[in-house]
Amino acid sequence: MKRMLSGIKPTGQLTLGNYIGALRNFVKYQDDYEMVVFIANLHCITEYQDPEDLRKNLTDAVALYMACGLDPEKSVIFLQTDVHSHAELGYILACNTYLGELNRMTQFKDKTAKGEKNMTAGLYTYPCLMAADILLYNANYVPVGEDQKQHVELCRDIAQRFNNRYGETFVVPEPLIAKVGARIMSLSDPSKKMSKSEETNKGCIYLLDDLKSARKKIMSAVTDSVGIIQLDKENQPGLYNLIEIASALSGRSMEDIVDEFSGEGYGKLKAYVADVVCAELEKIQNRYREIIESHQIEKVLNEGALKASSIADRTLEEVKKKIGLEIKY
Ligand code: TYM
Repeated sequence: MKRMLSGIKPTGQLTLGNYIGALRNFVKYQDDYEMVVFIANLHCITEYQDPEDLRKNLTDAVALYMACGLDPEKSVIFLQTDVHSHAELGYILACNTYLGELNRMTQFKDKTAKGEKNMTAGLYTYPCLMAADILLYNANYVPVGEDQKQHVELCRDIAQRFNNRYGETFVVPEPLIAKVGARIMSLSDPSKKMSKSEETNKGCIYLLDDLKSARKKIMSAVTDSVGIIQLDKENQPGLYNLIEIASALSGRSMEDIVDEFSGEGYGKLKAYVADVVCAELEKIQNRYREIIESHQIEKVLNEGALKASSIADRTLEEVKKKIGLEIKY
């Protein structure tokens, strides 16, 4: 069975973008692949996090993974810091990555261009840690949203370089990006990705938003003055985004939704999108509450860490031997 690996960095509450672009796909794939899914907590601290908030976000993220349908009987679910090999291989891969490659990473470039002060060294070398996350498990595929594609491509380059230098060691992974929903945009500014780091919360729906406020965010989503319901991503990006969200969650094609609402006002379409989103959130939130109350998170994480370590530690051992870092054989 081919292996898949992915992770989410809960620097805040998980968003509808995380769900549509990543999480719900993990759930779909877990029956046909050996699925390894982790909480990327080391990645969270590339920027300062309030420790109390971080702890809460990590717990919520595990509960939400399960509430969205990840089944610990089918998937390995664990916390990154419970498997020490991640940090160690991350360092080794940083020694096999060039500054030029890290300088080209869009997320780093964007922050530099915005003139962000106090960027940490961790933020800069983050793609090396992400490569370690993937390569430790010899994952064949990495299901991610569009914004992570560049990082997976760098991971491939690092793996190939390592294999050329030291002999065949890593499986070279492929990014797996869904056709619909790979880049959900902000509801308040459809030129930007929906993201938990938005300044105002208006454009971002969180999986734990109360349904009233989620509905309000959709009803006041920025659209356009064209006034026609059709698929024109360039000129009507806000409308396109709403239709894409509804399509991803309902399983209907975007064209089918347009057909139903063509000739209607935007308000009617928005109300439909809000119904679809709120029905999904309600299901997730009910299961989330059950999982929190059942106190099963610790057990799931302990078992996940054991399974993950048994794969990751073996890979790290092999890497260290190949490089010449070990003296005993
Ligand atoms: P993160 O936490 O920013 O996002 C987690 C996943 O959600 C997807 N995503 C979106 N998809 C569609 N529309 C959006 N608006 C949207 N926002 C986020 C992301 O593409 C991603 O798939 N570096 C990663 C976490 C990570 C990882 C890994 C992923 C660490 N190690 C190894 C895969 C493999 C990150 O920050 O994702």
